[in-house]
Amino acid sequence: MPLQSLFPTRIYTARLDPRAASGGGLNSRLLRECRQLALDDGAGRTWSKTNYPGGYTSYSSASRMHQMSPTFGQLEKRIDKHVRRFAGALDFDPAGRELVMTDCWVNVMSRHVVHGLHLHPLASISGSYYVRTPQGCSGLKFEDPRLDRFMAAPPRKARARRDNQVWVTIPAEQGNLVLFESWLRHEVAPNPTEAERISVSFNYSWF
Ligand code: NI
Repeated sequence: MPLQSLFPTRIYTARLDPRAASGGGLNSRLLRECRQLALDDGAGRTWSKTNYPGGYTSYSSASRMHQMSPTFGQLEKRIDKHVRRFAGALDFDPAGRELVMTDCWVNVMSRHVVHGLHLHPLASISGSYYVRTPQGCSGLKFEDPRLDRFMAAPPRKARARRDNQVWVTIPAEQGNLVLFESWLRHEVAPNPTEAERISVSFNYSWF
């Protein structure tokens, strides 16, 4: 069929720590520090009570973990390489500037904790690294960015091809990285598992 695909929405996924599955490597140090932070960060726990009910996030209290902890600094270095590749695939031309990590924070989702639909203002590329993903935990669900313009567009078949679906969920797997452009709305459905789902989220910006 003489079809062309224009204006694609790119998602980048990569294995960042192959030793994560066996409980070793950088991932095991990150896990320890994420849990310690959740214990130590009283301001973050207070903020999370209102803004992340049932869970913990350092989004408002310790949002530059890459500058505070050498372990997170190592994570930043590893992510940097993938962000450069992703930016290359997107043909970004940051006019001599560099895309750098501006924010990096921890999220701990206990059972039933949800992260509603949102985007990341003031950032260019955002993403998550998965530190601990109990079996059956929620993935990262992306929304078709054209959804608010569809008006009379018919619904899609239940079994529509993946790139024609208006919602796509990328499974969360510990040791894996997901990158996306920061304007792309996404959410995490309630954690259905008894165990904590732990991730590190981050923003990159070029100005
Ligand atoms: Ni997000």
